[in-house]
Amino acid sequence: MPLLTQRLRDLRPSPVRAMLEASQKPDVISFAGGLPAPDTFVSPVLPPNSEAALQYGPSEGEPELRRLIAAELQAAGLDCAADQVLILSGSQQGIDLAAKLTIDAGTRIAIESPTYLAALQVFRFFGARFESLDPSLSVSWTRADHPAMAYVIPTFQNPTGRCWTADERESFACACEDADVILFEDDPYRDLAYEPCQRRPAVSWMKNGSWIYQGSFSKTLAPGLRLGFMVASRDLFPHLLLLKQAADLHSNRLSQHMVIHQLTSQDRDARRDFLVSAYREKRDAFDASMRQHLGNAVEWKRPPGGLFFWLTLPEHIDPDALLAEAIKRNVLFTPGRPFYADESLAVPSMRLNFSHASKDAADRGLAILGDLLRA
Ligand SMILES: Cc1ncc(COP(=O)(O)O)c(C=O)c1O
Repeated sequence: MPLLTQRLRDLRPSPVRAMLEASQKPDVISFAGGLPAPDTFVSPVLPPNSEAALQYGPSEGEPELRRLIAAELQAAGLDCAADQVLILSGSQQGIDLAAKLTIDAGTRIAIESPTYLAALQVFRFFGARFESLDPSLSVSWTRADHPAMAYVIPTFQNPTGRCWTADERESFACACEDADVILFEDDPYRDLAYEPCQRRPAVSWMKNGSWIYQGSFSKTLAPGLRLGFMVASRDLFPHLLLLKQAADLHSNRLSQHMVIHQLTSQDRDARRDFLVSAYREKRDAFDASMRQHLGNAVEWKRPPGGLFFWLTLPEHIDPDALLAEAIKRNVLFTPGRPFYADESLAVPSMRLNFSHASKDAADRGLAILGDLLRA
């Protein structure tokens, strides 16, 4: 037997990756992953003179990209400078770096319940002990008794779609600051806003606390670019930079140049508006199909942004058994349980992605789910 690490015991295969594999089959209607619609992807244009990008580059990322990101975040209300920006190989890498920064075996990490399952997977791998926040987000931490980090998704949360109010953002940021908790805000969906919502980063309410904020180009440009970014308070940034260097030296420079090209192109705003209105339309068509096919027993709220509907099911329905039947009929979705760190808190639920399937395919898939629910 080869000698492998203790940590591997806690690494569980992500149900989403398994589902992504199944979704490659033709004729499958997938509501499972967080896949953007392929017709929204940017065409891969490389700017002239980008051959230099084939050489090794800085671990922090391309200076121009860091400047552009800092300027956008300032406009969003976060006071930060370009030298606090670290370019990531997808924001999933940011979760890995933040975990390496904060988690030893047994370290307490606060999370929303439910939350992004691939973050739970990483935190668990490093040995985290989870503390589930209650829906009111109220906490009773002190400087003597607190988690090391709070990982939250205040804007169009994955999986619930919830968007925190300004009061919630402010009081949570202050609670973190008062108790010396690192606030880690994950924000990949902020541009996909279908209704007016508070989107100012929660970390922007901190004055002297330690924080990490991250975003992604996966949902607005293309996930295959594998490009995201992280901004951190000055006490944390140098450690995160060393962890990034150790992980992969730097992110793909060709992708970074393509993103610079997109961020500086004249039709940037028009493209974003188009994307948002196309997804809003899909969300509304999906909502209407669900009302037609799923009946009254299933409950959901129409999300004000992001890519998912979160459905709660009647007590007698087992979402895993429902998925097994759905797969036989070529329909995929993600059951709710893996989004809970503490499975005893899980209610029968499922997450449906509305961005990937065409409107017709979504309607057919939802009709099949409706049949299965009634059976
Ligand atoms: C909340 C959240 N964080 C991070 C990620 C990872 O995104 P990426 O690595 O593509 O930037 C996702 C992807 O769906 C997500 O939903």
